[in-house]
Amino acid sequence: MKALVDRGGGSLDALELSDMPVPEPEDNEIRIKVVQAGLNHRDLFIPHRNKGNKEPVIPGSDGAGIVDACGGDVEAFQPGDEVIINPGLGWEENTPAPPDSFHLLGYPGHGTFAEYVTVPAAHVELKPPHLSWEEAGVLSLAALTAFRALFTKGRLQSSDTVFIPGAGSGTAGFLIPFAKKTGAEVFTSSRSKEKRRRALALGADAAVDSSGNWQDELEGRQADLIIDAVGAATFQKSMDLLKKGGRMVIFGSSTGDTVDFHLRSFFYGQYELIGSTMGSHEEFHQMLAFVSKHNIRPGLDSTVPLEQIKEALQRLEDGLQFGKISITVSEEV
Ligand SMILES: NC(=O)c1ccc[n+]([C@@H]2O[C@H](COP(=O)([O-])OP(=O)(O)OC[C@H]3O[C@@H](n4cnc5c(N)ncnc54)[C@H](OP(=O)(O)O)[C@@H]3O)[C@@H](O)[C@H]2O)c1
Repeated sequence: MKALVDRGGGSLDALELSDMPVPEPEDNEIRIKVVQAGLNHRDLFIPHRNKGNKEPVIPGSDGAGIVDACGGDVEAFQPGDEVIINPGLGWEENTPAPPDSFHLLGYPGHGTFAEYVTVPAAHVELKPPHLSWEEAGVLSLAALTAFRALFTKGRLQSSDTVFIPGAGSGTAGFLIPFAKKTGAEVFTSSRSKEKRRRALALGADAAVDSSGNWQDELEGRQADLIIDAVGAATFQKSMDLLKKGGRMVIFGSSTGDTVDFHLRSFFYGQYELIGSTMGSHEEFHQMLAFVSKHNIRPGLDSTVPLEQIKEALQRLEDGLQFGKISITVSEEV
């Protein structure tokens, strides 16, 4: 089968399209013919993490497709079912933090940038009917992360004002509509004027320049809840925008892991700093019900064939995208 393969070269450039064996489903697994896959920031990290490993690895966490074969003891699915994959494996019930068994599809095991992938049946759901293949293929990782960060960890209330820096990110494309559907007021930021315009079209109430003075642009308005995955570049400005007693949830650090932190301001302000990551399968269910109920569809930046996936990864690396990049792997049959 056709697949994007990492052989430890250490960079996006070293990834190559190769012929790989079609995987066989083990007990409790299903084999899925991938129709569409989706890119995430995580995919950019895999070549660095896998550097020096000569064993071929197929990256890719997000995907939707058609059940092709079922391993032993699989009763919930049959060949021909149209499904969406939850790439957060080994985390079933909602818990305060993921169990040790938690790991993601698409490294170290093979992922969705291939014509076929095997996945535990317990982490697969029927494709929400309101989503196209392109939309279903990009939903899971970012939407699940956004759902847990906003609702489980962030405890979002309809009366809250939420600030989400980095409007162009794949996760912001879910955070903004999820928060708006809840009734919250939503502010966001972007380095790009065009992305700020698009964020307003997506429903944001205000969109400020990431490199500007947020307090001035927002005329002193502050946030009850901030979801910041940009990291070091925005951390302090986000903290400064938080109302006293407010909550900041962090699930990513695209621009760096390390920040200076002023403890006295933190405890006097009685802020809550909360870590989050992906979500359980229980939350995946809740997220699918939420997007179906509110008819939420992922914003697509672009759709490209698997043959052009390296260019698409470069677009993500360069931060040119607004919303999700969908990869066409197979024709639907
Ligand atoms: N822990 C988890 O489970 C989990 C799950 C999903 C994602 N993540 C992490 O969360 C982060 C976001 O993921 P994603 O896939 O949504 O990212 P993404 O699509 O790559 O977007 C990152 C965004 O950050 C903003 N940004 C980048 N550099 C910036 C800078 N110097 N100053 C201000 N803004 C900057 C940009 O927004 P503009 O282009 O609008 O300026 C960019 O689009 C990543 O670090 C990812 O690894 C973690």
